[in-house]
Amino acid sequence: MIKLCKLDDIPDGEARGFNIEGPKLAQRLIVIRQDDGVLGYLDVCPHTGSRLDPGRNTFMDDDGEHIRCSIHGALFRIQSGECIDGPCFGDKLHPCPVTVKDNDVYLERENVELVDELTQWMSDLEPRAAE
Ligand code: FES
Repeated sequence: MIKLCKLDDIPDGEARGFNIEGPKLAQRLIVIRQDDGVLGYLDVCPHTGSRLDPGRNTFMDDDGEHIRCSIHGALFRIQSGECIDGPCFGDKLHPCPVTVKDNDVYLERENVELVDELTQWMSDLEPRAAE
């Protein structure tokens, strides 16, 4: 497991981005805090493969009820990552296994393994993103 931050570094109901490094690519994931738990997703919009919010590190909509892509406004359910509004309706964010232990937030996979999995997912997205 890889420690990402303290749970209290992420205010309840908000999200934060983290870099993960691998031999094939560097990628980002987002971690959303919900009470004393967390959910993680790859910071890649299934619409075009771009980051959800380049540069601003804000991933939630104004009422904090959905994850929002700042590029074209797609909204995703926090619990499932499913897009419920926007150009990639019905698609899902790619989950990243994160957990809380002793008030610290951890990525539950080794970077190399996770990056390999994410690389495959992203290559599957590419034909669609070109449409
Ligand atoms: S890139 Fe995210 S909605 Fe288009």
